[in-house]
Amino acid sequence: MSARAFHSVLDPIGPHASAIAQLWWVMLWTTGIVFVVTMVFFGIAIARGRQGRPRAEHSPRAVTTVVSSAVALTVVILFGLLVASIWTNRVTASTGGAPAIAIEVIGHQWWWEVEYEDQEPSRRVIVANEIHVPTGRRVVLKVTSRDVIHSFWAPNLQGKRDLVPGYTTAIWMQADKPGVFRGQCAEFCGRQHAHMAFTVVAEPEDAFERWREAERQPARDPQDAVAQRGRDVFMTTKCAGCHTIRGTAAAGQVAPDLTHLARRAALASGILPNSASHLAEWIANPQAFKPGNQMPPNPMASEDLSALVAYLQTLQ
Ligand code: CUA
Repeated sequence: MSARAFHSVLDPIGPHASAIAQLWWVMLWTTGIVFVVTMVFFGIAIARGRQGRPRAEHSPRAVTTVVSSAVALTVVILFGLLVASIWTNRVTASTGGAPAIAIEVIGHQWWWEVEYEDQEPSRRVIVANEIHVPTGRRVVLKVTSRDVIHSFWAPNLQGKRDLVPGYTTAIWMQADKPGVFRGQCAEFCGRQHAHMAFTVVAEPEDAFERWREAERQPARDPQDAVAQRGRDVFMTTKCAGCHTIRGTAAAGQVAPDLTHLARRAALASGILPNSASHLAEWIANPQAFKPGNQMPPNPMASEDLSALVAYLQTLQ
């Protein structure tokens, strides 16, 4: 799984994104042709003016006919684009039957909280910045924000949707092909707006169910001494006050859930690959990577830091 996932509106992998891409092509071709035709007439007019030819005499009636035809054609073209746009809107807003799964997406400065709904509360899954979906199935996203307005945008899958604090809206999406697709916050939300990325991992239904079942499990206790020391560091320093690791005493609610951190491809909302060295650098000084984010620097002895990283890497 790559943290360098690609995103493109013109590479749609689902019905909603396909409608948007079609509208893009219709608009490009229509306005492109209008531009070329206009430039041709413009060029003819300039060429005639340069040749110093006397202006041909046209009857006022002929001029009126030409101008009104051009105006009528413009109105027809604009109306056609309006219809295409409304049709696209209908497709992107369509639910298309009952969704297979419902996912709550909550925007934070500057990361994404992702919670898979389940009728049994103990079977709910909470992750961050990485959204897994089964291919070929409708998924409903219920989006909101905890602080400022963000915008959820996975260009290969759907249009943008604002995340408004205190207000939840729903969008449907569907991935018809497996793959890892990049998404991005699309509404300026503060200093690290550009570093608020996420990935959508589309995988066949059985692989998705295996992933979700593994995410449901609480964290396993570390077996080796170094990782056990790292766990103690986590529980006795500031870490546990902000982060949750299910199965342990850490139950902080303001930062990403780390129960299965080691299974994620990226750290810090897509800006760093999830490796031991990046974890250590991030924990020591998150402000060096994302100035202004809510995680403070964590000065600690280097043995403590490497033990902490060793523990976090056991969170499979
Ligand atoms: Cu969140 Cu921009």
